Amino acid sequence: MPYIREILTEGHPTLRKVAKKVDPREIDDPLFQQLIDDMFETMYAAPGVGLAAPQVNVPKRLFVMDVNDDEHPPAVVINPKLEGLSEEVELREGCLSVPGMIGDIVRFKQAAVTGLDREGRKLRIEGVGLLAQCLQHEVDHLNGVLYVERAKNVRPAVSEEDKETAEA
Ligand code: NI
Repeated sequence: MPYIREILTEGHPTLRKVAKKVDPREIDDPLFQQLIDDMFETMYAAPGVGLAAPQVNVPKRLFVMDVNDDEHPPAVVINPKLEGLSEEVELREGCLSVPGMIGDIVRFKQAAVTGLDREGRKLRIEGVGLLAQCLQHEVDHLNGVLYVERAKNVRPAVSEEDKETAEA
């Protein structure tokens, strides 16, 4: 049974570490599969559109995401490699590890990741908008980077619109 794990918040050292590459032989391990299930459970409960393993105190290179979009089903990406595919735009962003805050950040409008899925098969995900933003946000987490370091005008989310900003 999946269970909800605690989401670390800013100030915890794991959030600042560069996460380690996953050994593909580890993917079949029931404990690793449990981690993936728990990460989905934790993300949906938050609720959020993405969650990286360091946010639940596991310094490994994987994340889960569900941007609630028919074209892009829920996915887990292990050992992601990010590609920016377009010009950059300024977007509003929030993070489950920095609760109650939002900021303005420059991100590629279109991006892709390649990596492995939960069966260890190669996968590639490409998209625009929230999906692209989420890919970049999660890969930052795996590199020990929180969006607040790169964002401008980090502020409390007060308006309804602010509060609706997707968190990951
Ligand atoms: Ni985040």
